[in-house]
Amino acid sequence: MEIKKLHLVYFSPTRTTQFVLRAIAQSFNTEYSEIVEHDVTDYNSKNVELKFETDDLVLFGFPVYSGRVPQSFRDRMNGIKGQRTFSVLIATYGNRDYDDALLEMKNIVKENGFQAIGAAAVVTEHSVIRSVATGRPDAKDTAFIEDFGMKLKKRIVAITNEESSTELYVAGKEPYRKYMKIPIAPVASASCIACGLCVKKCPVDAIYVHNPRKTDKEKCIGCMRCVRICPQNARHVSKIIMLAGECIFSKEKQIRKEPEMFL
Ligand SMILES: Cc1cc2nc3c(=O)[nH]c(=O)nc-3n(C[C@H](O)[C@H](O)[C@H](O)COP(=O)(O)O)c2cc1C
Ligand code: SF4
Ligand code: SF4
Repeated sequence: MEIKKLHLVYFSPTRTTQFVLRAIAQSFNTEYSEIVEHDVTDYNSKNVELKFETDDLVLFGFPVYSGRVPQSFRDRMNGIKGQRTFSVLIATYGNRDYDDALLEMKNIVKENGFQAIGAAAVVTEHSVIRSVATGRPDAKDTAFIEDFGMKLKKRIVAITNEESSTELYVAGKEPYRKYMKIPIAPVASASCIACGLCVKKCPVDAIYVHNPRKTDKEKCIGCMRCVRICPQNARHVSKIIMLAGECIFSKEKQIRKEPEMFL
């Protein structure tokens, strides 16, 4: 089948998912398709409305949180609709597990008028405990991404309407893994100059506009975006929490998980 436009729709607080999605699109892109990006990470995208046509192909990208699709991305998906539009699901995860995230996303897109024709779970540096899978995706992951892109391209060219009604298999089970919120809300030190960047870029509006040193712990999803983007390097997670995290993830530091694809 012919694709007129390739769309990248992603939620990517620390930009690894964005990087992976772009790399897949790069290796898959052909002369006949135009790439359009829809970054729905910012809070002002919470009521995003996007409608896709039958000759679009949509690559959805998101980080795995607690083995699931992040709630903020699920919320944004409410306004993202297809018309039997083909889609590809890309979950990035920090070398622990992606558990039921791909299955959950497959069900979400189906409800919204999309047909998933491919999926991948790609290992990345853990955005909270950065000593886990440090530097990934690396050269071996890049080779996987290129291979996935090439196979996807062949699949799109070959796909027929009959074939498209076959349900894609992805790993995962129902009921989904119970979501466990990690209590890692970062706060800012005295070096904060109140520039407001973190307030603007927080995906869930959890940083107080009149006092950006403080964080609303209920709203914060621990995505680490504010910590990465602060020009003063003023935002940090409590040392005790980080130490506990380093211990909990000792196994994940020693084993190497490989990316997986479903086509
Ligand atoms: C709140 C939170 C929960 C996470 N849960 C998991 C998890 O269950 N399994 C895993 O392997 N990685 C987990 N990670 C790591 C991220 O999935 C991974 O670093 C991802 O690539 C981040 O994407 P981004 O750079 O686009 O934000 C978690 C990260 C955060 C911030
Ligand atoms: S980005 Fe950093 S310096 Fe700017 S308001 Fe936030 S914590 Fe303060
Ligand atoms: S305050 Fe919490 S949710 Fe907001 S950017 Fe920082 S870590 Fe993410």
